[in-house]
Amino acid sequence: MSSIQKSQIEAALGTVMEPDLGRDLMTLGMVEDIAVDEAGNVSFTVVLTTPACPMKESIKQSCINAIKQAVPEVGAINVNMTSKVTSSCSHGGGHGSHGAHGGNGAHGGHGGHGAPQKIDLPNVKNIIAVASGKGGVGKSTVSVNLAVSLAASGAKVGLIDADLYGPSIPTLFGLQNVKPEVKNNKIMPIEKFGVKLMSIGFLVDPETALIWRGPMASSAIRQLISDVDWQELDYLIFDLPPGTGDIQLTLVQALPLSGAVVVTTPQDVALADVAKAVTMFRKVDVSILGVVENMSWYELPDGSKDYIFGKGGGEKFAKINALPFLGSIPISSKVREGGDIGTPSIIANPDAPTSVAASKVAGEIARQVSIHNAACATE
Ligand SMILES: Nc1ncnc2c1ncn2[C@@H]1O[C@H](COP(=O)(O)OP(=O)(O)OP(=O)(O)O)[C@@H](O)[C@H]1O
Ligand SMILES: [Mg+2]
Repeated sequence: MSSIQKSQIEAALGTVMEPDLGRDLMTLGMVEDIAVDEAGNVSFTVVLTTPACPMKESIKQSCINAIKQAVPEVGAINVNMTSKVTSSCSHGGGHGSHGAHGGNGAHGGHGGHGAPQKIDLPNVKNIIAVASGKGGVGKSTVSVNLAVSLAASGAKVGLIDADLYGPSIPTLFGLQNVKPEVKNNKIMPIEKFGVKLMSIGFLVDPETALIWRGPMASSAIRQLISDVDWQELDYLIFDLPPGTGDIQLTLVQALPLSGAVVVTTPQDVALADVAKAVTMFRKVDVSILGVVENMSWYELPDGSKDYIFGKGGGEKFAKINALPFLGSIPISSKVREGGDIGTPSIIANPDAPTSVAASKVAGEIARQVSIHNAACATE
């Protein structure tokens, strides 16, 4: 009969810190189902805030080490790592607790517009906007790889493409002629590679969308979001159209965003434009989860790196603006090919350096979402 008490295990796990959230696992309520059997074997479940947690292995190892140290006579230690994605605090519902999020008053300085009414998606835990100041820097590529990677980690993920004038999801997923079904007055998203997809490109032909302007475009996009039967989602990724114009501004104000990711390439021109995107998000009180640098380098046949567009621009930009740097993605013809054949590179070539980099970026984004959610929950 083992003399190990459950309370000893609880005490040991109470010394293990969640590295990002700055408190211990017991205080955070992240440990469940602690059991000690007669032979002194211990098992328990750690519930992470995201299945894509980059710290998963290190947290697991810290638990094992802490128990071995505190209870040397322990038998086998069986740690079951699971997750329950936390929700953004920006969910409206009129709580009005969160600065500009809760209110519907006009924000100054946007040409006299009142802030648009919030679209509430109560079954969607986190909405993440992917933005850039400049076109063609890789927003859609980053959005697609983020969505696919989070889904592969086990999260429920949706991806929406709000580019009226150049929708890219149908092409990037090889779904050019697909039309979604309508059931009970709701548009059913198209599912591929584990991700629920919606694009204006599934609903209207680009010629029609081209003639839409201002309010018509905004209302089409609102419908695109709120008339879709998303069911429950952990993450809804929003691939924004390029730029910082009216459509972007309306969208970021209308959605209860967990935060925004800004994508840039390393050149000065792209960085100058991404600065505008940062300013836009700050003006309307949307948290910026961090900066992704795309097309960072090209790997030469001898393994060395050619920094075609300059080195370290994205990281420097992040530092100057006090934003997390979420990682760099190299240039690879595999990325473009993946886009062209409708299979994201992360699926077609999971071991390619670009895919490894893109999934690392996805983990960092999920991590920042968890950090933001924890911070706002304790505000
Ligand atoms: N890391 C990369 N390596 C190689 N090609 C890339 C990379 N990232 C993006 N591309 C290619 O560059 C082009 C532009 O990328 P993408 O469509 O993702 O940019 P975007 O910012 O969404 O553009 P837009 O502003 O038009 O929406 C695409 O052909 C894409 O395949
Ligand atoms: Mg795009």
